[in-house]
Amino acid sequence: MPDRLVRAPYPMTKVFYRPALAQVLRVDQLTQSENLLALRMGTGEPLNHEPGQFVQVSLFGYGEAPISICSSPKGKEGFEICVREVGTVSGAIHDLEPGDWIGIRGPYGRGFPVVELEGKDVLIVAGGIGMAPLRSLVGHIRDNRRRYGRIIVVYGAKNPAAILFKNDLKVWFEDEGIELYVTVDSPDESWTGRSGVVTSIIRDLDLGSSASMNAVVVGPPVMYRFVAMELFRHGLTEDRIIFSLERRFKCGIGKCGHCQVNDLYVCRDGPVFRYSELLGRSEAVEVWAPEEQ
Ligand SMILES: Cc1cc2nc3c(=O)[nH]c(=O)nc-3n(C[C@H](O)[C@H](O)[C@H](O)COP(=O)(O)OP(=O)(O)OC[C@H]3O[C@@H](n4cnc5c(N)ncnc54)[C@H](O)[C@@H]3O)c2cc1C
Ligand code: FES
Repeated sequence: MPDRLVRAPYPMTKVFYRPALAQVLRVDQLTQSENLLALRMGTGEPLNHEPGQFVQVSLFGYGEAPISICSSPKGKEGFEICVREVGTVSGAIHDLEPGDWIGIRGPYGRGFPVVELEGKDVLIVAGGIGMAPLRSLVGHIRDNRRRYGRIIVVYGAKNPAAILFKNDLKVWFEDEGIELYVTVDSPDESWTGRSGVVTSIIRDLDLGSSASMNAVVVGPPVMYRFVAMELFRHGLTEDRIIFSLERRFKCGIGKCGHCQVNDLYVCRDGPVFRYSELLGRSEAVEVWAPEEQ
C-alpha cells in the first residue's frame, strides 16, 4: 500500500483535536444521576494528570464534554471520572458498559497548586459534583500526607441520596489526618448528620492561626460568593482562596474562545484560579472584596 494512504495526514503533535482511545473498565452507579467510570488508555500508559485537570470525553455520534478527573494521579492502572447525566454526551456516557471504548483528549488545564500548597493547612470545600475534582486532590494529599498540614474537608450535598463517593467518605472519616464535615440541604428521616449549607459549617470552624490556611473551593457558582465571605471572616486573603470555574467548553485548549471570561480562557488559564486572579474580572464569579464587609 502506498505510504501516503497509511500515514497520518499531519504529524500527531499538530493534531490537537484527535482523541486517543480509552476503554471502560468499570461502571459504578453512585447516585440516581451520577456514575463513576474507571478508564484505561488504550496504549496502557498512565494519563499523568494533576488534581483539578479535566479531559475532553468524546463519544462517536454524540459529541464531547469536559469532565474532571476524579482519581488521584498515583493510580497506575488508569483513572476515574464521575459523570452527572444532564444531556446528550453525559447521557451517552451513562449508557456505557465495561469493555466499551471512548475518546479522550487531555489531560488539560491548570489544576490545583499542589506543590505550592505543600507545608500548608488546606480547607477543602465541595458542593455537589464539585466533589469530583476535589476527590482527586484529597487522594493526592493522602498519597503524600506528610507534605501537607491540617486538612479539613467540608462537603455539602442536596440530600442524603445525592452524597457522592460514600465509600471514600467513610475512609476519610476514619483517617485521623482528615477532619471531615458532611452536610445536606434537605435531610430525610434516615439522616443523623448535619443539615444546612456549607457556609454554616465553615463559620463554626476553628481554623486556629489562619496564616497558613488555604482554601480550595469547587461547587455551584452561587456557592463561591458566600463561601468567600466566610473565608474572609476567618482572615484568609484573596491569594489563599482557590476556585475551579465551570464554563461551556468546545476545544478545551484555548483555541475557540467559547469559555472566555473577560481576558481569560477558562480551559487554558484555568479551570483553577486563585480568587486574587479573578478580582476585576466581573464575568468570572460574583467576586466580593473583604473591604465590602
Ligand atoms: C472544567 C470542567 C469540568 C467538569 N467536570 C465535570 C465532572 O467531573 N462531571 C460532570 O458530570 N460534569 C462535569 N462538567 C460539566 C459537563 O462538562 C457538562 O455537564 C457536559 O458538558 C454536558 O454535556 P451534555 O452533552 O451531556 O449536555 P447538553 O445536552 O449539552 O446540555 C444539557 C443541559 O446542561 C446544560 N449544560 C451543558 N454544559 C454545561 C456547562 N458546562 N455548564 C452549565 N450548564 C451546562 C445545558 O445548558 C443544558 O441545559 C465539567 C465542566 C467543566 C467546564
Ligand atoms: S473551550 Fe475553546 S478556548 Fe476554551
